[in-house]
Amino acid sequence: MKTNIKELVRNMTLEEKAGMFSGLDFWYTKPVERLGIPSVMVSDGPHGLRKQSNEAYHLGVNDSIQAVCFPAACATTCSFDRSLMKDMGEVLGKECQAESVSVLLGPAVNIKRSPLCGRNFEYLSEDPYLAGELASSYIKGVQSQNVGTSIKHFAANNQEHERMTGSSELDERTLREIYLTAFEISVKKAQPWTVMCSYNKINGIFASENKKLLNDILKEEWGFEGYVMSDWGAVSDRVAGLDAGLELEMPGSHGTNDQRIVQAVESGILEEAVLDRAVERILNIVYLYVENKKDEIFSREEDHKKAVEIAKQCIVLLKNDDVLPLKAGSEKIAFIGGFAKSPRYQGGGSSHIHASHVASTLEMMEEYTEIEYAEGFSTKEDFYDEKLVAEAIKVAEQAEKVVVFAGLPDLFESEGYDRKHMRLPECQYQLIEEILKVQKKVVVVLHNGSPVELPFADRVNAIVEAYLGGEGVGEALVEILSGKSNPCGKLAESFPIRLEDNPSFLNFPGTGKKVYYQEGIFVGYRYYDSKKMKVRFPFGHGLSYTTFKLSDLVLSGRSMRESGTLTVAVKVTNTGNMAGKEVVQLYVKDNTGAAIRPEKELRGFEAVSLQPGESKTVTMTLEKRSFAWFNENINDWYAASGTYDILVGTSSRKIDFTESVEYVSETEIPVHLDLNTMIGDVMNHPLLRDYVKEAIVPLAAGLTETDDENWAVMMEAMLRYLPIRALRSFSDVTNDELEKHVEELNKLLI
Ligand code: BGC
Repeated sequence: MKTNIKELVRNMTLEEKAGMFSGLDFWYTKPVERLGIPSVMVSDGPHGLRKQSNEAYHLGVNDSIQAVCFPAACATTCSFDRSLMKDMGEVLGKECQAESVSVLLGPAVNIKRSPLCGRNFEYLSEDPYLAGELASSYIKGVQSQNVGTSIKHFAANNQEHERMTGSSELDERTLREIYLTAFEISVKKAQPWTVMCSYNKINGIFASENKKLLNDILKEEWGFEGYVMSDWGAVSDRVAGLDAGLELEMPGSHGTNDQRIVQAVESGILEEAVLDRAVERILNIVYLYVENKKDEIFSREEDHKKAVEIAKQCIVLLKNDDVLPLKAGSEKIAFIGGFAKSPRYQGGGSSHIHASHVASTLEMMEEYTEIEYAEGFSTKEDFYDEKLVAEAIKVAEQAEKVVVFAGLPDLFESEGYDRKHMRLPECQYQLIEEILKVQKKVVVVLHNGSPVELPFADRVNAIVEAYLGGEGVGEALVEILSGKSNPCGKLAESFPIRLEDNPSFLNFPGTGKKVYYQEGIFVGYRYYDSKKMKVRFPFGHGLSYTTFKLSDLVLSGRSMRESGTLTVAVKVTNTGNMAGKEVVQLYVKDNTGAAIRPEKELRGFEAVSLQPGESKTVTMTLEKRSFAWFNENINDWYAASGTYDILVGTSSRKIDFTESVEYVSETEIPVHLDLNTMIGDVMNHPLLRDYVKEAIVPLAAGLTETDDENWAVMMEAMLRYLPIRALRSFSDVTNDELEKHVEELNKLLI
């Protein structure tokens, strides 16, 4: 029988209600034995199960159960594949059921503002649409198993520096368009059971006390039905937080905050109705889990195979000048670099999974063919070891192809602090330079959670980005390098040439507990493309061992009204001779000039698997939001009428088709005129145009009437910026007459 939650809340004492708002300990919610309310467990997340014992400090890593470590989000997003994310979510949901975990703490959708953020490896993308779409699929997957998710960290938590005290300072448009969109898409499409608020302040107010974010936007505007929990230790003022919409404080506060809540109600500061609503939200989710509990067992072996399968589809082939795949058996191949033996497969901090089986790429490759190996450098530190380098050069000289396994040591990127620079350890650059002196065919494999500088990119023959690909990354790499599988990942972030090129460079990580997001909406490719800058590798880029062709682009119409939709269909053909997967990407460019917009923005994508010679048609649907920006004047999404380009291709810098469409807005932007309104602002307004032409423009005759054509053009251009009041200077019109004109114009708008 379904529990009557409202009835349960009615029967609770004030103290029992207050107790529900903080954890029992690090991982459990509080029970109320008198009423039979159970205690349930939550656990990290996001790319595996980190189920710890109760006593464990939450960032401790060794005492969690052995589980399967799937690729981290930096890698899985490169699949651009909704069904892959859903499948992975399903597997994780089943593992949670088997381990009695009610909520998995993920996905983490914070935008990669700077390559230096220590947690970028856990985050999905620099693009909010991509992050939101893939997070929604992951959430649907986990929750299909009657286990909840906790989308995190809400919001604008894009660095580790001063993360528990600092304030992210940004304007409303930037907040909405870049930093909230992934959460918004996920809430609207997938209803995560819980949302985790972040540590930081947003424009001076802690996320955990931010009524605008928690109550107004998340719950009222987007319709979030679950409960909000705090990040671990993110609560400052518990009473203010509860009032603002933070239901659950994690972990527990040993009762001290529960007392504060009771006192606040007793002294009339907080209404008990606030507590009732909050308890109801928590209990709805507790019982959703408890009443739908399934008996699952999970097999580490089976799930490990899935981790390998997913890892294969996330690896990005960044460059390949005819050296890959390796011809195992007929070529003399050397692997160099410690990561060949022990791949770096996950990042540090709260997402660290206790994986029991991580295959070595070297050992797996040795099953296919003979491989020469040299360590070359230690994976733990930046130290140029002459002996190791000398050995590596010797091995490189004698091989026909060399694969260097480079990457970031664990200490270089982790939760809790940011990276200091965007470089690999210098010893690795030096080693690669030495190898290039003796070897013509060099492949570099990268193990990193965020972009690194690749000064050797033009001189090596191939680069494979393996990211932090989970415990199956070694096996996956062997399949890709040997050509048993075809790479299909696409970059979910831009690789700038150097850190200084990144738009946040001058304002990251801020000082004095404030970080100003001065670059505004121009994050990642939105900036590089608008500035037509060279990048090392662009957003959306990724190669394959086969070739694809896009053709037959069909738009459902040449124009679209705001309330309508537009579908874009394109045929994709595998024109090579190996099965493969391509990702079609759709970007929109605003040509209306109504607002400052990026050169293009991702608004659709589809991953499609094709056998050699096979074709499939991919269809993507655009709606108002695909064209819109957040207009602060109306506090809403808005797209102006006019021409937009639809760009379809296979990376942000490889666009095969550009088609124009007319968009017709149905939103009226409120206009009110006064003497300071510029003539240009009213000249083309459909309701005012005629009046302006007949009654206003002639008042500027002294300025615009001339026989000199050039002069006339110049003056007409100037007229646009002239406030109505300034007409006094060019004709003998009186103030009273001008005020009358303004009155008439305002009447026309009614
Ligand atoms: C992290 C969260 C994590 C929580 C619980 C915090 O330090 O920011 O992402 O879910 O700890 O481990």
